[in-house]
Amino acid sequence: QPIYRHDYRQPDYWIDKVELAVDLHDDVTIVRSILQIRRNKDTASEGQPLVLNGEKLTLKEIALNGQPLPESAYQVDREALIIFSVPDHFELSTVVAIKPHENTELVGLYQSNGNYCTQCEAESFRRITYFLDRPDVMATYSTTISADKARYPVLLSNGNRVATGELENNRHWVRWEDPFRKPSYLFALVAGQLVCHHGTFKTMSGREIRLEIWVEPQNIDKCEHALLSLQKAMQWDEQTFGLEYDLDVYMIVAVNDFNMGAMENKGLNVFNSKFVLCRPDTATDDDYEDIEAVIAHEYFHNWTGNRVTCRDWFQLTLKEGLTVYRDQRFTADMTDFALKRIRDVKKLRTLQFAEDQGPMAHPIRPESYIEMNNFYTITVYEKGAEVVRLYETLLGKEGFAKGLARYFEKHDGQAVTCDDFRVAMAEANQIDLTPLDRWYSQAGTPVCEVRGRYDAEQMTYTLQVTQSRAPTPAVQPAFMPCLIPIRVSLFDPKGQALPLQLADENVPIGEERLLSLSETQQQFIFVNIPQEPVLSFLRGFSAPVQVKMQRPREHLAFLMAHDNDSFNRWDAGQILAQELLLNLAQDWAAGRELKLDPLFIQSFGKILTDSRLNPSLKAMAMMLPDEKFLGQQIEPIDVDALYEARSFMTRVLARTFRRELLALYQQYHSTSPYSNSRSAIDARRLKNTVLRHFLTALQDEEVIALIGQQFQHADNMTDMQAALSCLMELEIPEREQALQQFYGRWQHDPLVLDKWFALQASSSLPKTLDRVLSLASHPDFNLRNPNRVRSLIWTFCSLNQVRFHSADGRAYKFLAELVLELDRLNPQLASRLVGAFNQWRRFDKLRRNLMESQLNTIIAQPNLSTDVYEIVSRSLNYR
Ligand code: ARG
Ligand code: ZN
Repeated sequence: QPIYRHDYRQPDYWIDKVELAVDLHDDVTIVRSILQIRRNKDTASEGQPLVLNGEKLTLKEIALNGQPLPESAYQVDREALIIFSVPDHFELSTVVAIKPHENTELVGLYQSNGNYCTQCEAESFRRITYFLDRPDVMATYSTTISADKARYPVLLSNGNRVATGELENNRHWVRWEDPFRKPSYLFALVAGQLVCHHGTFKTMSGREIRLEIWVEPQNIDKCEHALLSLQKAMQWDEQTFGLEYDLDVYMIVAVNDFNMGAMENKGLNVFNSKFVLCRPDTATDDDYEDIEAVIAHEYFHNWTGNRVTCRDWFQLTLKEGLTVYRDQRFTADMTDFALKRIRDVKKLRTLQFAEDQGPMAHPIRPESYIEMNNFYTITVYEKGAEVVRLYETLLGKEGFAKGLARYFEKHDGQAVTCDDFRVAMAEANQIDLTPLDRWYSQAGTPVCEVRGRYDAEQMTYTLQVTQSRAPTPAVQPAFMPCLIPIRVSLFDPKGQALPLQLADENVPIGEERLLSLSETQQQFIFVNIPQEPVLSFLRGFSAPVQVKMQRPREHLAFLMAHDNDSFNRWDAGQILAQELLLNLAQDWAAGRELKLDPLFIQSFGKILTDSRLNPSLKAMAMMLPDEKFLGQQIEPIDVDALYEARSFMTRVLARTFRRELLALYQQYHSTSPYSNSRSAIDARRLKNTVLRHFLTALQDEEVIALIGQQFQHADNMTDMQAALSCLMELEIPEREQALQQFYGRWQHDPLVLDKWFALQASSSLPKTLDRVLSLASHPDFNLRNPNRVRSLIWTFCSLNQVRFHSADGRAYKFLAELVLELDRLNPQLASRLVGAFNQWRRFDKLRRNLMESQLNTIIAQPNLSTDVYEIVSRSLNYR
């Protein structure tokens, strides 16, 4: 029963105003709603039935314009309330009962640690009351919450608190009014024993905004970073795009049980506590950076998502791609541009390119879905952000900002489409952007094949570029060429960037050029090139494409040393390492002796000893491509060969550069107290990369002693976790001792305990599978807490390639059983986990058969959720 994008039509009725009264009681919650409804004269004829969405609701009362409706006037089924005939304008009142304490799906109104919270995106407001639960229906909300005063002293909803009062039986109530019209998915309600860490922000127009971070009392000392992040985000959005906050209060609530990262409900964000709470001794530098980014992301949604929202869910990337793009730029400004770019591209290539190669391949604006929750994907978010970045690349930062201003000028307060965004961008810059349309409508990763030819006699350098699409298993219409902006430079043998002049130009224009590839095949001729240059192609990853290019290894080594685009400099090293690793894997599989190319060893050494390179960038450059990424480049994926090849390369590098690595570790290992300055973060990143990804492989006494010391003396979680993750790779008594010590110290802090599970699940030791099986029955493992499930199960099944794909199939069986159990509790989470099988056809026959049989077992279950059904059926039916 898929829903198709092309079937969109406006609703038959509009809802302008919502008055909710929510009475929270232990056994049952009563929701009274009064809706002001009017007929949409463009689509509905007079008296057309009104169909409201509603799921898991018990209807208690219903009245139209104050008159109770007789049972013959309406009908209720599992998904809807239908009133057969209604006037053009009317007020509909309903009373429903719901049971939040029985809600394990974590959508609609549910409980987490005894407190109430909501998650309505995409289609769960309908589990709170009957409604036209679609984003193009925008209304103003007034919400009154009543509850026991002692157990739920704090009652929150969207907008401004306008009235409060006392009731009998130790109950109290609070009324909230949100003056901004919004779709139902942005509704939120929170009730509980919470305390608030607060601050203020003065906007550019001089208004003072109150900022509140609400948490459980034991977490009150873990909120300052979140508050600072919010203040930075608010300021950045004013400075970068002139966007100011609009309500008087901005609230963030941290909850323990949350299916996703966070939710941008108007004025009342609900967050996975993982993206709020931190203290130097409980959270790593990466956690700090993630928190800052997610806080910013949700804040940025206030304009890109809330003020201007999506007409329908197919347009999700309109708000998500754009908001991810905005948070990427924010993080780049707060940290380091190149570093952020490298991390984002790495994520895209590892996860999104893989999605494109599997059964879930879809355009950033999907054409159909069965369960919308399955389309909150890396494609919609991350590739969507890359597509937004194409506008910036074509228009420049200023042109982009102008386009965004135009978008708000035209569409503030509306629910719009991706096309509306493109048109606003085009209008503001007076340029035709229709060629970008195909990025929205085509699935799959474009592939650019590149050939460079130097003609010494003519002194020309000719670039031949073609585009096609990487094979997608899912059936797709024929590939149409896209507009692909390609940044290039050419270097002379000394590492100087050459002035670039195209054949039809009179003078060179700059040393970096933006070429537009819009045909299937094009050539670009550079003139006055005195000698054979080295090509730097797709600089800064100027488009989300794969590049295929034959080139000598010497060119890659040259770019590793000389490219002045930090991204491409890093990428050259990755391409070289990848090529060698894939060859080594083949050699290993064929039983040949393994040898590492001296050119690579030499280039690696140069990076290691380059004192001008920022330590974080150096750490990135040293990291070898991971096994999962390598697996995508070959078919079938030979998990053991990839693991052995990568271990071999790591060992050779560690042995060759033992002295330099130890020196780097000592240089950057600080004995002074923790600091969160950039330089301290960079230092920790580099020395922990050295320790975890190289020195640990040596397994000698000196290294083991270093690891032990770091573990015992660390005054921050970054160093503590790094040391423990080194120990996870070693079969020594200290391993279990450290695990016990860590558990003893942190068993009462769920977010830190998640790390304890995840670290064990990510070990590459052969015994990891058995360990994971036993951890699944550990008293602290809990299927009802998504963070805990992800830390053990997702870490193991999706990230630990060599151990999850153990040839005996035990891990597959384990995952399938777990998915079925979880599907009864939380389908959204179950469907994410079952995605670990998505690439099954790309493995060898043995593993393929084992995974297929597990998928068949799953699909044969009666009462499977639509979430899991959609993923598994796509998986089984593709190719
Ligand atoms: N809009 C949220 C964000 O990206 C994500 C909510 C996802 N919820 C869901 N049920 N799929 O910030
Ligand atoms: Zn978002």
